[in-house]
Amino acid sequence: MDRMLELRNVNAGYGEFKVLNNISLHVDKGEIVGVVGPNGAGKTTLLKTIMGYTTLYGGSIFFKGVDITWRKVYERVGLGLTMVPEGRGLFPNLTVEENLLAGAYLERNYSKIRDRLEFVYSVFPRLKERRSQLAGSLSGGEAQMLALARGLMSSPELLLIDEMSLGLAPKIVLSLFDLVGKLNREHGITMLIVEQHVKNLLEISNRGYVIENGRIVLEGDSRSLLANEMLKKAYLIY
Ligand SMILES: Nc1ncnc2c1ncn2[C@@H]1O[C@H](COP(=O)(O)OP(=O)(O)O)[C@@H](O)[C@H]1O
Ligand SMILES: [Mg+2]
Repeated sequence: MDRMLELRNVNAGYGEFKVLNNISLHVDKGEIVGVVGPNGAGKTTLLKTIMGYTTLYGGSIFFKGVDITWRKVYERVGLGLTMVPEGRGLFPNLTVEENLLAGAYLERNYSKIRDRLEFVYSVFPRLKERRSQLAGSLSGGEAQMLALARGLMSSPELLLIDEMSLGLAPKIVLSLFDLVGKLNREHGITMLIVEQHVKNLLEISNRGYVIENGRIVLEGDSRSLLANEMLKKAYLIY
């Protein structure tokens, strides 16, 4: 088994405010791993901690066998870690293509950047049609596609995705999940995905973790989580 990411007993938060409590989890190469949990449980904090944006009090983080616990954010990006943030974090007054180029900020080789643009336009033809349009004028679904595509511009090996379905219509959510599954299967991108749409997420993921109050309270393969009575009740999975 090829371990891509491993957190060991991670404690993290913001300044004095401790959020994550003794988190241990892993993601293997090729997997989609889901993290679910109620609002305020620490899901976003978990992804931010993996990227290096929070205060770490203890524990360690390994990526592709490298101890990245104290590495800077840009070093983690350089190693192949990228986060698609909650709320998308686009530049509304830049065009679609300018937003995409911003995602390749660590790359200096122009032909590589062109190749990546071609790649994301082949995955998201809609964005190619709208390449000159301002990001602020996209629909919610298109904006989320752009956020995902911008994440792909840094050619990640592990993509961390935070609540991509937030505020989108169910039909659009389904098509986004389809797309993400396809990116994983056809392009070998490993993913750690945080979501409130528990059923959609567990249907495309291999394994999952349930987080409550900054702790992991349940973990397992997605099929067994989908059948778990406690989870069914708490998250209204039918
Ligand atoms: N920048 C921040 N500074 C201080 N506390 C924060 C910050 N961001 C989130 N928190 C707190 O951390 C806890 C977990 O939040 P978060 O990770 O955003 O949860 P989730 O993504 O699961 O909804 C909450 O109590 C929240 O208020
Ligand atoms: Mg969140």
